[in-house]
Amino acid sequence: MIFILTFSVKRLIIENELEQSDRSAPKPGESARSTAVTEEKDQAAFYQKRKEESSMEKKNIDWGNIGFGYIQTDYRYVSYFKNGAWDNGQITTDANIVLNECAGVLQYAQTIFEGLKAYTTEDGHIVTFRPDLNAERLEQSAQRLEMPVFPRDRFIDAVNQVVAANEAFVPPYGSGATLYIRPYMFGSNPVIGVKPAEEYQFRILTTPVGPYFKGGAKPITIRVSDFDRAAPHGTGHIKAGLNYAMSLHAIVSAHKEGYDENMYLDPATRTKVEETGGANFLFVTKDGKVVTPKSSSILPSITRRSLVYVAKEYLGLEVEEREVLLSEVSDMAECGLCGTAAVISPVGKIVDHGKEICLPSGMTEMGPVTKKLYETLTGIQMGRIEAPEGWIHVIK
Ligand SMILES: Cc1ncc(COP(=O)(O)O)c(C=O)c1O
Repeated sequence: MIFILTFSVKRLIIENELEQSDRSAPKPGESARSTAVTEEKDQAAFYQKRKEESSMEKKNIDWGNIGFGYIQTDYRYVSYFKNGAWDNGQITTDANIVLNECAGVLQYAQTIFEGLKAYTTEDGHIVTFRPDLNAERLEQSAQRLEMPVFPRDRFIDAVNQVVAANEAFVPPYGSGATLYIRPYMFGSNPVIGVKPAEEYQFRILTTPVGPYFKGGAKPITIRVSDFDRAAPHGTGHIKAGLNYAMSLHAIVSAHKEGYDENMYLDPATRTKVEETGGANFLFVTKDGKVVTPKSSSILPSITRRSLVYVAKEYLGLEVEEREVLLSEVSDMAECGLCGTAAVISPVGKIVDHGKEICLPSGMTEMGPVTKKLYETLTGIQMGRIEAPEGWIHVIK
């Protein structure tokens, strides 16, 4: 009896939740007019709620001690693509996605994504860093996988909306933590013959993440991988889930062997440095030049492009973007991996099939040039150093 009662109450709650999520999530297939009216009402209610919450305290999270994992936040953004058009998009509370068993993303991995951060600057603003470049890169990824483009201005607006909604999860200045923003898009309708899907979802989830390096950046040891990351003329230059699925075996085996990361070489000749599974390389020569590999099969890292600008325009360094041979790495003074997660991770040692290449910068600290680059770029991001026009997008 008690069981039946509990079950019925649970069912009621679930049904109620379903009803609520039905109300908040526009269904593909609803008429444009009725969707727009519902969205207008939902958005008005949403902003009213946000207004009431705006004096709300930050979430009770130990910001200095969270790791790089998923912590569910209150709001996410979703827009549906159907009949050749994106709907208006909206903020929702439901973190779960229900898909048909034959959805394009499940069968043929038609999914792309981006990664950026929102953080609190020294003067208390919530900002993002160069989101226009993430919008542009998502567009390039979509085109390569025959997916519809989510307009760049709408991408930036959606990022703003979802960060503002989750303001309580944006870590305070000085905590070292940030709100990681993950825009992603996938084919959602059933596809059994190999072809692009016709319906898509563009979504953005957010999750607070801790400082990448607790207690300061320690140089890492990487190995030259026997696995390839990207085929010539393949998909290495876009941010598609498929590139990461195939890197999992390589990273698990690198970790098993005691290495932090893989250095991938160009698959055609295996003589040139490409990148790691999640970051571009940046080297410093013994005469203080910054050198970064140029290749059509690496992901165009926004951090690397920003560091190149900082090196030239802020630090007056000479920069070369060119092919980098594995054979010249042993002559380098410093090496770092650049990406959104850590900005720069210093590399102390590279192991090429038993042959150790020990960078003169050593295993205890970042090299001096890498450190200057790191401090300047993080200074720009945090509002301590004046940013180039358009780099910092203030949300609040
Ligand atoms: C393969 C790969 N290379 C490089 C990067 C660094 O790119 P960004 O600086 O835009 O984060 C990432 C991370 O996004 C990545 O996944």
